[in-house]
Amino acid sequence: MNGKTPKESRTIMTEIVLPNDTNALHNLRGGKILHWMDIASAIAAGKHANAVVVTASVDNVSWENPIKLGDVVTITACVTRVFNTSMETHIEVWAENLPSQTRYKCNEAYYTFVALDSNGKPKKALELIPETDEEKRRYDEAMARRELRLVLAGRLKLQEAKYLQKLFG
Ligand SMILES: CC(C)(COP(=O)(O)OP(=O)(O)OC[C@H]1O[C@@H](n2cnc3c(N)ncnc32)[C@H](O)[C@@H]1OP(=O)(O)O)[C@@H](O)C(=O)NCCC(=O)NCCS
Repeated sequence: MNGKTPKESRTIMTEIVLPNDTNALHNLRGGKILHWMDIASAIAAGKHANAVVVTASVDNVSWENPIKLGDVVTITACVTRVFNTSMETHIEVWAENLPSQTRYKCNEAYYTFVALDSNGKPKKALELIPETDEEKRRYDEAMARRELRLVLAGRLKLQEAKYLQKLFG
């Protein structure tokens, strides 16, 4: 087999918001959500690559809705594209208030991981084979997102970012 599908890396993590996870407004702290997102997406990347992975970057994250004390949080992550040694993952965070049966979206983000070999050096990861229309759309759009994060990290010159140039003309 030359690659794996996003479904094979799909990771679902469930947590409950406890008092120690909240701020003074009794909402889940942003840093705690980022931590859970990092864990879920690292597991997804690790499952895809069958390797130890490290977080290389976290794209911008914004919060659509606060998550309340006592609510149940579901974090879903999967690999959207493999570049070479690095992999982009997409993460969605939803919360649910069990007594009222209300489900609401908190946020989503892209995290990038690098697969490492047994010497701690970056190693090539298996290809990703997108199947559904949404998986194919995220896969196609991933090259521009990769260029943007590499430009922002000072690893790529804007003039060399051909997918970004195509997007912005
Ligand atoms: C990420 C890391 C492994 C890259 O190592 P490196 O020696 O710079 O290796 P390379 O230049 O070969 O880059 C390896 C890959 O990382 C990608 N990468 C590096 N920095 C990146 C960034 N800021 N954003 C996205 N991708 C990045 C490169 O594009 C390359 O991807 P590719 O092989 O798919 O083209 C290294 O910088 C590192 O270990 N950083 C610390 C990671 C860490 O501690 N994370 C937090 C705890 S898990």
